[in-house]
Amino acid sequence: MLEIKEIINQAIKARELSYSPYSNFKVGAAIEVKDGTIILGANIENCSYPLSICAERTAIFETYLRGYKKEDILQIAIVADSKDITTPCGACRQVLSELFPRDKRIISANLKGDFLVSTIEELLPYSFSKENLDK
Ligand code: THU
Repeated sequence: MLEIKEIINQAIKARELSYSPYSNFKVGAAIEVKDGTIILGANIENCSYPLSICAERTAIFETYLRGYKKEDILQIAIVADSKDITTPCGACRQVLSELFPRDKRIISANLKGDFLVSTIEELLPYSFSKENLDK
């Protein structure tokens, strides 16, 4: 498994793929899976602003599209050029709560080298889950 700094470097690389002409806020994400593959994601915006999608979601959706499942995932890093650390937004937390393993690390970092390691359980306690659909 990659060291924290190494997976952050992959997310920094992913950040360059961001299409964010409206916010000018580039975000990159990198997911490592058990066979060693690194899957990159970046925020992709639209002139109809709400249609924009975050880096975390492009990365997790791409992971599943490549045939990987929750149990294949080792870690994710997310990087933005912010003074403080940017952690996943509420929508991404909800998506990750279903698609990302409960106990694997979510590394949120900025370009200055600050980072925070957390899990989805810490980021979104009492989340809405598919069990809540049971009647
Ligand atoms: N954004 C992300 O990609 N991930 C986050 O965790 C926070 C926000 C994106 C969405 C939008 O394109 C831009 O950053 C500004 O909100």
